[in-house]
Amino acid sequence: MKGPSESQEELREKIIGLGEKSIRKSHYPELLRRIRELEEAKELVERKNAELERYLYVASHDLRSPLVNIQGFSARFGRFSEEIARELEAMRPDEADAARRDAALSLLREKIPRSVAFIVSNVSKMDRLLGGLLEISRTGRLAMTIRPLDMNALVASVVGSKSWEIEQAQAKVSVAELPPCHGDWELVSRAFGNLIGNALKYRAMDRAAEIFVYGRKEGPYCRYSVRDNGIGISGRNVDRVWEVFFRVDGDGPISGDGVGLSIVKRIADKHRGEVSLESHEGVGSVFSISLPADSFEEGA
Ligand SMILES: Nc1ncnc2c1ncn2[C@@H]1O[C@H](COP(=O)(O)OP(=O)(O)OP(=O)(O)O)[C@@H](O)[C@H]1O
Ligand SMILES: [Mg+2]
Repeated sequence: MKGPSESQEELREKIIGLGEKSIRKSHYPELLRRIRELEEAKELVERKNAELERYLYVASHDLRSPLVNIQGFSARFGRFSEEIARELEAMRPDEADAARRDAALSLLREKIPRSVAFIVSNVSKMDRLLGGLLEISRTGRLAMTIRPLDMNALVASVVGSKSWEIEQAQAKVSVAELPPCHGDWELVSRAFGNLIGNALKYRAMDRAAEIFVYGRKEGPYCRYSVRDNGIGISGRNVDRVWEVFFRVDGDGPISGDGVGLSIVKRIADKHRGEVSLESHEGVGSVFSISLPADSFEEGA
């Protein structure tokens, strides 16, 4: 893991410095060529990332407006079919036509509304998914204000904002003394909001929920963990939870879009930090995020 304050330029100076002491002069051109190649590769990755970021934004943003039309016109279609049903009911057909009228009424009163409801619920699901993608894209593009973060105050404020959910879940939330770090207050708060929110949401129903937040300094990073005694995650799914839209129990009783942890990972990436997870199904999970201990420049 590269130190947060070590820029490409500093690294280059360091390698050249090393070279002066221990590497033969004849190796310099080769070393410099390798450094140049690395820098070019880094630029290419950054360009491609920015391009993907733009696609993500355009796709998630622009695909939402046709959905509004589909939703609106589907609802209107439902109303029209109700009106036609009323007109048909007002008719007094002779015996031969009565059966055909009843068949048409059954289409208008049952089959069409069922289809319309299906379209509307799928469109609103798609709208939610696109909204999630848009949120991920916005998080990635957001300019950060990097400053020293009093993590005790930050986590206290996140826990405070969840008072209602904590009370409803009758959960016990404890927070250890946390080391400070550097980062964007809003984004880091959002990451902890998602982690603590998940710990409450995926609690085990057969025991009282206990959530513990702790952290310690590890080299140039501070690693913070949220531990719960909830339902846990099986080994085969542990790495997948950071993927967008992945949910262990997709159609299960607990609602969600599978977006929260992707946002946490995005926030860690923006801070050049990392996320990790240790979990045991039926026992509980420890979600961790490492953030820079010292100040750093965004995108440097
Ligand atoms: N603390 C936890 N304990 C057990 N499973 C968890 C925990 N946190 C996350 N998960 C699993 O990881 C999946 C992804 O979590 P994530 O927060 O990304 O999405 P979500 O909670 O389903 O929806 P949302 O977008 O509303 O956050 C969840 O659906 C759940 O299966
Ligand atoms: Mg979540």
